[in-house]
Parts: sequence; C-alpha cells; structure tokens
Amino acid sequence: DDPAADPFEVARDAAAAIAEKTGVARHDIALTLGSGWGRAADLIGETTATIPATEIVGFGAPALVGHVGTLRSVLLPNGNRALVIGARTHYYEGHGVRRVVHSVRTAAATGATTMVLTNGAGGIKEHWKPGTPVLISDHINLTADSPLEGATFIDLTDLYSARLRQLARSIDPTLDEGVYCQFRGPHYETPAEVQMAKTIGGHIVGMSTALEAIAARQAGMEILGMSLVTNLAAGIQKTPLSHQEVIEAGREAEPVISALLARIVDAL
Ligand code: 6GU
Repeated sequence: DDPAADPFEVARDAAAAIAEKTGVARHDIALTLGSGWGRAADLIGETTATIPATEIVGFGAPALVGHVGTLRSVLLPNGNRALVIGARTHYYEGHGVRRVVHSVRTAAATGATTMVLTNGAGGIKEHWKPGTPVLISDHINLTADSPLEGATFIDLTDLYSARLRQLARSIDPTLDEGVYCQFRGPHYETPAEVQMAKTIGGHIVGMSTALEAIAARQAGMEILGMSLVTNLAAGIQKTPLSHQEVIEAGREAEPVISALLARIVDAL
C-alpha cells in the first residue's frame, strides 16, 4: 500500500515468492475464480501446492466469507501449469486499484500469458436464467478509475480475445456472449442504473473484472472472461436482490459451470 512502491516490482516479488513456495518456476496460465466458479480449481487438474494468499506480498485477507483466500499451482492434463487465484481484491474494499490488479500483475510476473477472469454477475437479458454462463465479449468500465498510471495510452480493442471466445464456443456451442459493465458497488444497482447500462450497450452487471482485464492487457496477456448470471439485475427481475440468493445460485450452478471451464482450460 506504499504509494512510493513500484507496483510491478511488488508483483515480481510476489511471483518470486510463489515460485519458491510452489516449487514451480513458471506458470503458463492464470485463473481468477469468482462467485460460482471455485470448484473449477479441483476439476482442471492436479493441485501440487496451495498457499494462503496472506503469505504473499500484496495480497490481503479475504474480505468475504466463501472467498477461499488461497493461491494454487495446478498441473493440467495438457501439461500446462495453472496459477489459480482464489483471492480477489474488489474495488469496493477501498484499498485502491493497485491492490485490485495486483493478482493479475503477479500472474503475469509468474510467466502466465493467458488470464482467465470469472465472476458472478447480474443479467440484463430476461432469457438468461440464474445459472447461465456467459462469455464476456467486451466491457464498459463504470468505476471512473484505471489501473494505468501516467501517460499509458494502451489499446483495448479485442480485449476479451475473439480467439479464446471461439475456442470456448467450440467446447459449448450454446454459450452466449455479452458486454460486462463494472460498477463500483458494493450496493447493487438501482433499476434506473440497470436501464442505463442496457441503453449504453451492457448485458451483464458486476463489481469486478474490467479493471483486471485492463491490467492484463497492459501485461500483454490474452484474456478469457466469463460471467455466471446468478440473478437478473434490479428491475429486470421483479423481486429484490439478496446477496444470499446470489451465493445460492452460484452454489447450485457451480458443478456444471466449473466442469465447463475445466474443459475450456484444457483446450487452451
Ligand atoms: Cl445485479 N449487480 C452487480 N453489480 N453485481 C452482481 C449482481 C448485480 N448480481 C450478482 N453480482
């Protein structure tokens, strides 16, 4: 949290600590597992090391019950090494955007060239039933913040790799896609804000992922983004939203979507 610290140097230190504690010098891909996706950690391959995130510089204690707070090194059936990040820092925790993207920068510093970002989110399309996985095709960043500092004018075209979306659809041709709107949270949106998101081209609303994707692009990674629609967004669904409902929908969908993600990851 030292404003004078170079965030990329902190990420390199974190990656060195991960290499030492896991005994794995280089990871090929990294996955951040959000609400509903956690079981994928067990399905993608063989976990060879699990580290409490608090032992690695720059990672805080998990803010939410149900968030695992660990980093795992997993050997995939295809021989690739995956770093599984079960320790996401959300923007709404108030630690600043550097802390939010630290896991992505650390993943890049471990050698990972592919970043898989997953989350639980609210759906704007009425036909998306709770439990529906959606490929993120693009995003609208409504946080009014950026992980980039200074004159870093990077391009964000094809941020969510068309190649990886195509590959995901070759595994499950029924996968739908949508534009993800990152709000700051931690409150859910008002129905009017959801209508705004819809009007400006959004299909899914959530509180993560967009800032992380920007940092991943800056690091030169190829990005796959997937949302689990845990509920319809406020005003689209007729009943009030509850965090409990979101958690339960995630839990129910978890086996199916985690198995899907495992198949996609093995094909990467
Ligand atoms: Cl409706 N909004 C946001 N921002 N995040 C969510 C959600 C809605 N449902 C699950 N996560």
